[in-house]
Amino acid sequence: MAPPRPKLRVRDVEIGHRSGRKGTYALAVDGLSFDVAPNEFIAVVGPSGCGKTTFLTAVAGLIPISGGTLELDDHRIDGPGRDRSLVFQQASLFPWRNVVQNIEFGLKAHGRLDAAGRARVAELVELVGLGGKGDKYPRELSGGMSQRVNLARALATDPELILLDEPFAALDAQTREVMQEELTRIWQADGVKAGKTAMFITHDVPEAVFLADRVLVLSRGPAHLVADIHVDLPRPRTPAMKRTPEFLAMSDRIVDLVMAQSQIGKQAQPGRRVTSDDHAGVAAG
Ligand SMILES: Nc1ncnc2c1ncn2[C@@H]1O[C@H](COP(=O)(O)OP(=O)(O)OP(=O)(O)O)[C@@H](O)[C@H]1O
Ligand SMILES: [Mg+2]
Repeated sequence: MAPPRPKLRVRDVEIGHRSGRKGTYALAVDGLSFDVAPNEFIAVVGPSGCGKTTFLTAVAGLIPISGGTLELDDHRIDGPGRDRSLVFQQASLFPWRNVVQNIEFGLKAHGRLDAAGRARVAELVELVGLGGKGDKYPRELSGGMSQRVNLARALATDPELILLDEPFAALDAQTREVMQEELTRIWQADGVKAGKTAMFITHDVPEAVFLADRVLVLSRGPAHLVADIHVDLPRPRTPAMKRTPEFLAMSDRIVDLVMAQSQIGKQAQPGRRVTSDDHAGVAAG
């Protein structure tokens, strides 16, 4: 049987620019290749400064790539588009708009705030657990509630690909756990049903394993792929899974991979590149 057509296709992507007075060429991403299938939730981990945000920003179409190809649904990404939404660490809500108005914003900007759009917003308010809070203003919301609004706003436009850059990093540990459970529930209810794709950057390896179908480990910068790990835990995911030996073993293995990359600089060794064997070699199970 032919493999399913990838939703997102990343081939030999290089992101670089000239910097400094001498105009030296700096690379943030160097030869990154992988495919993402419809319905796949991908987590991306890697050492700080390796190029994760830069890569995500390029997938969003906000900066150009200097080599390789990026394709979403067989179309080359060459700028921002309605088929993608971004969620950052800070919720960046409009303080003068209430919850519903913040979630409506993208639809309104696209001229799609019709009856169906309003119904979708009402559905999302419930889905992200903000029922009854639609008329609250950002100043009245906690950090976790603000991030729920942010998520709902990103989902409202029905993007094919949702890009999340450490969306829970600013939350306290307890709220973060709750938001992880909420996101996996929302993804199951909303994303999977519609054949969507998500890419989630995090420094928290258990968070990556809990949320994702695959965890991509990037090398120290400039980033390339060092491991592509399939997380074969069943869905729906439950907090109890975090205590299973399979979960803990997988988290440990990924932490070791990231740590090895973080320490490579000290040993002056290049990051080892992923081979197709690595996909099987590090697969869960
Ligand atoms: N267009 C570009 N070309 C080359 N380098 C860039 C470009 N944009 C940013 N950089 C550099 O890429 C490096 C990686 O930054 P980036 O923010 O992507 O890392 P990160 O993996 O997200 O780090 P963190 O985990 O700390 O958030 C930085 O040194 C940054 O200055
Ligand atoms: Mg970053």
